[in-house]
Amino acid sequence: MAPIVLILISLLALLISPSQAATATCTSQKFTNNKLYANCTDLPHLSSYLHWTYDASNSSLAVAFVAAPSKSGGWVAWAINPTGTNMSGAQALVAYVQDDGTPTVKTYNITSYSSIVPGKLSFDVWDISAESSNGTLMIFATVKVPEKAETVNQVWQVGPGVNKTTHFIEKHDFAQANLAAYGALSLGTASGNSGAGLRIGDGGHVGLFSISLLVLGTLIVF
Ligand SMILES: *[C@@H]1O[C@H](CO)[C@@H](O)[C@H](O)[C@H]1NC(C)=O
Ligand SMILES: *[C@@H]1O[C@H](CO)[C@@H](O)[C@H](O)[C@H]1NC(C)=O
Ligand SMILES: *[C@@H]1O[C@H](CO)[C@@H](O)[C@H](O)[C@H]1NC(C)=O
Ligand SMILES: *[C@@H]1O[C@H](CO)[C@@H](O)[C@H](O)[C@H]1NC(C)=O
Ligand SMILES: *[C@@H]1O[C@H](CO)[C@@H](O)[C@H](O)[C@H]1NC(C)=O
Ligand SMILES: *[C@@H]1O[C@H](CO)[C@@H](O)[C@H](O)[C@H]1NC(C)=O
Repeated sequence: MAPIVLILISLLALLISPSQAATATCTSQKFTNNKLYANCTDLPHLSSYLHWTYDASNSSLAVAFVAAPSKSGGWVAWAINPTGTNMSGAQALVAYVQDDGTPTVKTYNITSYSSIVPGKLSFDVWDISAESSNGTLMIFATVKVPEKAETVNQVWQVGPGVNKTTHFIEKHDFAQANLAAYGALSLGTASGNSGAGLRIGDGGHVGLFSISLLVLGTLIVF
C-alpha cells in the first residue's frame, strides 16, 4: 500500500510542476499607475522582479523593476551593462526614498567600484519614475537598446541605506545572492523562449526537484 502511495505522490509532483514553474510571482503584481508590460520574470536572486515590453520597431525597452531594499531606508537598482556582465560598466537606475518621503531615481554610470556617483548613462533613457509601496520600491523607465539586440546583460541589486548628508548610496552586502544578481535578459521572440525571458532563470528547478522526489520515492519503495 505505502509504496504505491509514494509513487502516486511522486507522479503527482511531476504533474504539478509545470504549472508551478509557469506561475511566476510577477504575474500577480499590479502597478497603481496602471502601467502594463508584455512580459515579466521573477529574477533568480534578491526577491526581485522585472516587467518589460520590448518594442523592436524602435529598439526601446520599457521596464518596471520591483524589489525591496535590504533595510528600510535603503535602495534598489536595476542596470544594463553594455560592456560587461556584472557591476563594472553597469548603466544603473537607482531608486530610494528621499528625506521628504518621495521616491526618486538617479542614473549611475558605474565605471569603478570606488566611485559610485550619479551620472549620465551611455544610452538614452526616458520616462523615469519611482514608486514606493509597503517597503517595496519600483523603478519605471524606458531605455534604448542596440538595434536588433536579442539579449541585454542586466544587473540588479539592493542596498541598506543612503547617506543623509552626501546622498551616496551605501555599499550592498556581498553575500552570494548579491554577487549572483546578474544575467542575460532575452528580448527576442524568435528564440522560442516562451516563459521567463531570463536565460539563466530558475524555470527548471521545480521540475528537477520533482524528478528528485520521484527518484526518492522509488528508492524508498525498493
Ligand atoms: C517606441 O515605440 C513606442 C510604442 O509605439 C512608443 O511608445 C515610444 O515612444 C517609441 N520610442 C521612441 C524613442 O520613438
Ligand atoms: C562613464 O564613465 C566613463 C569613465 O569615467 C566615461 O569614459 C564615459 O564617457 C562615461 N559615460 C557617459 C555616458 O558619461
Ligand atoms: C505589506 O507588507 C507586509 C509584510 O511583508 C504584508 O504582510 C502585508 O500584507 C503588505 N500589505 C499590503 C497592502 O501589500
Ligand atoms: C555620510 O557621509 C559623510 C561624509 O563622507 C560621513 O562623514 C558620514 O559618516 C556618513 N554617514 C554615515 C551614516 O555613514
Ligand atoms: C564579474 O565579471 C568579471 C568580468 O567578467 C568577473 O571576473 C567576475 O568574476 C564577475 N563577478 C562575479 C561576482 O561574478
Ligand atoms: C513576451 O510576451 C510576448 C507576448 O505575450 C510573447 O510573444 C513573447 O514570447 C514574450 N517574450 C519573452 C522573451 O518571453
